[in-house]
Amino acid sequence: MIYKNIKNFPEDFLWGASTSAYQVEGAWNEDGKGLSVIDMLDHPEGTSDFKVASDHYHRYKEDVRLFSELGLKAYRFSIAWSRIIPNGVGEVNKKGIEFYSNLIDELNKYNIEPIVTMYHFDLPYELERKGGWSNREVIDDFVEYAKVLFDNFGHKVKYWLTINEQNTMILHPGAIGVPKGGKLPSKKELYQQNHHMLLAQAKVMDLCHKMCPNGKIGPALNITSMYGETCNPNDAIAAHNWETLRGWSFLDLAIYGRYNKLFWSYLEDRNLEPTVLEGDMEVMKLGNPDFVAMNYYSTVTIAESRGDASDVSARAGDQQIMLGEPGVYRAAENPYVSKTKYGWVVDPVGLRMTLRKVTERYNLPILITENGYGDNDILEENDTINDDDRIEFIKQHLEQLKLAICDGVEVIGYCPWSAIDVVSTHQGYGKRYGFIYVNRGEFDLMDLRRIKKKSFYWYQNIIKNNGNNI
Ligand code: BG6
Repeated sequence: MIYKNIKNFPEDFLWGASTSAYQVEGAWNEDGKGLSVIDMLDHPEGTSDFKVASDHYHRYKEDVRLFSELGLKAYRFSIAWSRIIPNGVGEVNKKGIEFYSNLIDELNKYNIEPIVTMYHFDLPYELERKGGWSNREVIDDFVEYAKVLFDNFGHKVKYWLTINEQNTMILHPGAIGVPKGGKLPSKKELYQQNHHMLLAQAKVMDLCHKMCPNGKIGPALNITSMYGETCNPNDAIAAHNWETLRGWSFLDLAIYGRYNKLFWSYLEDRNLEPTVLEGDMEVMKLGNPDFVAMNYYSTVTIAESRGDASDVSARAGDQQIMLGEPGVYRAAENPYVSKTKYGWVVDPVGLRMTLRKVTERYNLPILITENGYGDNDILEENDTINDDDRIEFIKQHLEQLKLAICDGVEVIGYCPWSAIDVVSTHQGYGKRYGFIYVNRGEFDLMDLRRIKKKSFYWYQNIIKNNGNNI
């Protein structure tokens, strides 16, 4: 659709940026924090651990001041469950409450809206030892944890996100990693975990509405669109298979409280269906999110399955993420899109497409909680970082976002990944996403100095003009 008039971004648009606790904070064992599964990971060779990360725990005031200079209207961060409740259940760590309370106050001081993710991959290790999400008891542990968060921060936080990228944890657990000595759960077990997470999420959304009258809460999934490799109808069916199994199945449960029919048929056919206890589906319906939070990076192009092992391949340059499933789909190449140095497909139009589809299916406001460009940025002379590719990436996505707004999509904010450099989930510190550079190497922590990248000044200007200069 080509419009005669292009709409502006809404006046109260949340221009933001994102991070997550374990990727930015450091202080992994300080001030009473308990261990999380992340602290117990085996790291891929050549990549940093998360013990110091970007040292945000000690430098949050300086960081928030920089966020304010950048002009951020919102900052999306996560709370480390094991900093609040070291064993995942039971005693609350006062120092943990104090840290996040101070961080939120600091943000509010600069009129930066805090957007809080309650759980971003870092399950307390003590809960993992008891079976993690395979154990139904974790549902109530998550609800208890949420109660502590709403009690302490509910009066000063409006936007809440439940679980970050549940679909990544279930479909690509290798990307997050397994604690030392552990092994990846079977698919059957993963779908049982999925069921438990969804029940926990529904209960917590309900609790939020009861405890925080002004609060708004939503799920934060990684959502994208799939294209068929050709106009062969079998490619289209395969693309629809994976689009449903990867995205809609999760959102249908989070929003409508029901198992998507195609998803359930797949689970039943492969004997992967979870045990659903009496009353579970009533609980699932309690959810009622106020918005959809969506992480968007790339699209996937799909071909018909060949029905054998040749359907399965690693995503370009990344052995941790396997794509393809015999009888379901096979990943294919798309000649119309480009790729980052890390092999991630760059497809700004795919963002518009995905936003349209989410709106059509769920008719809820959308908050973009991640989108960004990973690169091995180089610190050049006079403390400059010329991250032109990142600028181009964000610019193109914002252009498409504007068109999606013309399409009628209600987007309430854009929080690219990441506000400041953080440790990548499994590709180390060399792969950076931030508007602010952190002066450290993969293993050499150097002085952890903060340096504004070229993209910092560029995004600052976009925010100043409310995106009207896009
Ligand atoms: C998202 C995650 O999937 O992608 C983030 O929510 C992550 O935690 C981001 O950092 C980028 O992925 P990666 O693997 O490059 O760090």
